[in-house]
Amino acid sequence: MKVFVAGATGALGRELVPQLVARGHEVVGMTRSASKQELVRRLGARPVVADALDPDAVAQEVASAEPEVIVHELTALSGKLSVRLIRHPERSAASIMTNRLRTEGTDHLLAAGRAVGARRFVAQSIAAFGFGRAGAPLQTEAEPLDPDPPAAMRPGLEAIVHLEGAVTAIEWGEGLALRYGAFYGPGTGFSLAPDAVMAAPIRKRRFPLVGGGGGVWSFVHIEDAAAATVAAVEHGQSGVYNIVDDEPAPVREWLPALASALNAKPPRRMPRWLARLVAGEMATVMMTEPKGASNEKAKRELGWQPRYTSWRLGFAQGLG
Ligand SMILES: NC(=O)c1ccc[n+]([C@@H]2O[C@H](COP(=O)([O-])OP(=O)(O)OC[C@H]3O[C@@H](n4cnc5c(N)ncnc54)[C@H](OP(=O)(O)O)[C@@H]3O)[C@@H](O)[C@H]2O)c1
Repeated sequence: MKVFVAGATGALGRELVPQLVARGHEVVGMTRSASKQELVRRLGARPVVADALDPDAVAQEVASAEPEVIVHELTALSGKLSVRLIRHPERSAASIMTNRLRTEGTDHLLAAGRAVGARRFVAQSIAAFGFGRAGAPLQTEAEPLDPDPPAAMRPGLEAIVHLEGAVTAIEWGEGLALRYGAFYGPGTGFSLAPDAVMAAPIRKRRFPLVGGGGGVWSFVHIEDAAAATVAAVEHGQSGVYNIVDDEPAPVREWLPALASALNAKPPRRMPRWLARLVAGEMATVMMTEPKGASNEKAKRELGWQPRYTSWRLGFAQGLG
């Protein structure tokens, strides 16, 4: 099939494009920067340059590509973990831009897909942390995203709710929203690279275990996330799918294991009240409250199986 990937140069895009090409698909990869066209070519796709927030440019490039499937993996969060982003995501430029990519960017791609006669749209969503605080311990796709998030998380959550609603409601084809777990592995924030944004503070012992560390995170290796995305390009009906490994786990289990895999000292401990003061409400909630996500639906309906069934295996063998 002809597949148009918006976000071809991102951590996920760099795994996804070669996997699509290996499956025989013809891929067009979008980037904002003329300088990244060579990267897109090396991945095996034809590059196009457009700003996802420019509806005319997006419409023109999608029309010229004539894709059967559009994949939306856009964010502006890459490589950034500022104090402002953690404490006040609602005021951080990266977060505000990401919310625009998930609302306006989604709408522009959907309009372009409809106009060109595409029949499938696959988009990112989030199951990693913070979006399931009430309800069952293992969240299925039937659970709503957090209806009452901390104020700082509200704009981000509203953008995701917009994306999921708009994508899964299309009438001109199948619209799938993939709630990815936290990415780890090459090119992601959790990797062996010296500048990996999440690994760096763990190495410096600046990623503490907050309270009882009871917040449950769902992880997915970046290769497995890309394989699930390929499966969603090829199969599945409109709806939401959790793309996570088999073993959601509390922070108190995975954080010391990750520190050890990174050759770092064990994490320090910090009481909740102090974490609230130092890191803010969002970080404290993420470390103590989320529920895990179930991957049963993706396995059943997309025929997807993660190669790294647990982060335990992945942290030991797949950090890059
Ligand atoms: N990281 C996680 O743990 C995680 C968890 C759950 C869900 N997700 C979601 O999964 C998706 C993939 O994440 P990722 O880590 O691969 O993202 P990433 O590495 O930050 O890549 C972002 C991509 O978006 C493109 N982009 C940004 N602004 C653009 C604009 N204005 N116009 C055109 N392209 C633009 C970038 O292209 P250029 O720089 O080449 O222009 C790049 O290809 C994201 O949507 C993310 O929200 C991530």
